[in-house]
Amino acid sequence: MQRRAAATALLLAPAWAARAQTDLDVPFVVTPDHVTRAMLDLAAVKPGDYLIDLGSGDGRIVITAAHQYGARGLGVEIVPDLVAKSRDNARRAGVADRTEFRVQDLFETDLRPATVVTMYLLPEVNMKLRPRLRALRPGTRIVSHDWDLGDWQPERVVTIDVPDKAYGREKLSRLFLWTVRA
Ligand SMILES: C[S@@+](CC[C@H](N)C(=O)[O-])C[C@H]1O[C@@H](n2cnc3c(N)ncnc32)[C@H](O)[C@@H]1O
Repeated sequence: MQRRAAATALLLAPAWAARAQTDLDVPFVVTPDHVTRAMLDLAAVKPGDYLIDLGSGDGRIVITAAHQYGARGLGVEIVPDLVAKSRDNARRAGVADRTEFRVQDLFETDLRPATVVTMYLLPEVNMKLRPRLRALRPGTRIVSHDWDLGDWQPERVVTIDVPDKAYGREKLSRLFLWTVRA
């Protein structure tokens, strides 16, 4: 599966593949801050929400959700150094008490507490996550950066200009929103 995901990256996003490490499903590429805010706006994140970012990188999505939207959140990330950095970033932002970062494989994460799930992964990883996303509580919002969920019809698709995007021909990000139905 990890080799297949890397192959997908090779086909779809050469710059991502160049940065991929062989033992990871998805390389570390940050969501720019203005795209992070657009993801949180699209999910209508608010106080009372519990956001889980799958593959949380340096923690920016969870930290922004806590700092600017009043939510609580969990970031799960396979790279320990990124988790340490996320905890440090959360402390600096004053949201360490409302955020948690775990070194964990995202396929092992208990998603049941989530009211919002965010992800910036790869198409094959998204597809493999579908059974777990389908089991989320009704009303849970899912926002994916750049990659869809196959034939799951999104409620909304938003396009954001990203002039300095490091990969791909289009200098933009696509955001997809789904809400889990009963
Ligand atoms: C494209 S980056 C996105 C980072 C962050 N969510 C953002 O949008 O800025 C994907 C992240 O997923 C992490 N990752 C890859 N495979 C993972 C796995 N199986 N479990 C947890 N994290 C993983 C990578 O280390 C990387 O930091």
